Amino acid sequence: MAAVHESTLSAPRPGGLRGRRLCVAPMMQCTDRHDRYLLRLISRHALLFTEMIPCGALLHGDRRRFLAFDPAEHPVALQLGGSEPAEMAACARMAQAAGYDEVNVNVGCPSSRVSAGRFGACLMAEPERVARCVEAMNRAVDIPVTVKTRIGVDARDSFEELCAFVATVAAAGCGTFVIHARKAWLKGLSPRQNREVPPLDYTAVHGVKAEFPELEIVINGGIRSLEAARAQLARVDGAMIGRAAYENPYLLARADALFFGDPHPVASRREILQAYAEYVRRELGRGVYLRHMTRHLFGLFQGCPGARRWRRHLSEAGACADAGAEVIEQAYRHVAATGSSRGAVSEPPIDSAIEGGCP
Ligand SMILES: Cc1cc2nc3c(=O)[nH]c(=O)nc-3n(C[C@H](O)[C@H](O)[C@H](O)COP(=O)(O)O)c2cc1C
Repeated sequence: MAAVHESTLSAPRPGGLRGRRLCVAPMMQCTDRHDRYLLRLISRHALLFTEMIPCGALLHGDRRRFLAFDPAEHPVALQLGGSEPAEMAACARMAQAAGYDEVNVNVGCPSSRVSAGRFGACLMAEPERVARCVEAMNRAVDIPVTVKTRIGVDARDSFEELCAFVATVAAAGCGTFVIHARKAWLKGLSPRQNREVPPLDYTAVHGVKAEFPELEIVINGGIRSLEAARAQLARVDGAMIGRAAYENPYLLARADALFFGDPHPVASRREILQAYAEYVRRELGRGVYLRHMTRHLFGLFQGCPGARRWRRHLSEAGACADAGAEVIEQAYRHVAATGSSRGAVSEPPIDSAIEGGCP
């Protein structure tokens, strides 16, 4: 099978972004620019993704708002939802002009609204169309054009069909695939169930890498720790973490040392909060709502003493009309106070967060 695929491959554009060794997944309602700014305070190198932005929103909506990001977020990829090659090319051009490091095509979202717009996971059944999009986008931009997909959709779920999809899209010039190791059921399962019910099949993703060693393959789905992500690097080129990184962003604290050979001192949660509070002050001055920024902090003390009071203070005090960035420091005092009343240090240890929770 490998020989057949190789003969159909034109030279894919090398991805070459070092950050792909560890990526944080695109997540609607989660990985907005505020969340990405926070994550970047924790890891300097992991590749961050925007939420999926439908092409229509960029072409006909408030483009500036959808494309906005802080220069500190680099490396950052913009994820697009769409299936019209000319539109995708136009949006890729906008992404490049805005300064994104990569543009990624969503071929994994199972929502019925997205399928009705003929993009997302339903495109797995239309590899030629995805290939035409990638081709048009590659002609329009110099930044890497990548694809995030699943291992199958509905009845199209054999390994051969997955490889045929990858071969067709790679032949159009896509050198990097992020593969969520679950199939999607377009009828009968909600998007949430589609992230939990279809079983994880890492072997299928490893198999794609074995079939296409020249392609960069990033595995995604169910990875809950840096150790689990690192173990995947024996089989594939990178790992992408979604929910675990949103629910517990401090999970990324040692990512730079473990994945990128950068042994800089790990910032404590307190230092991260101080830097994020400065950002919050700046953004409040630009009219951003406090709660749109503080909501991403809820998981920062996940599993630590005082975490519940931390979340409660952030959500209750943060909802007051006249509240400002001081809410963050106040909420932190709850964690510190709980920690010291239990005889613990006020800054929970880093390693326990990496293992998935504090003692
Ligand atoms: C709230 C939420 C929103 C998501 N939005 C997107 C999206 O916009 N684009 C996309 O490709 N995947 C999206 N996903 C899927 C994730 O990128 C990822 O593939 C999935 O959560 C599996 O990885 P995980 O098990 O590490 O969370 C979303 C997932 C969640 C939980």
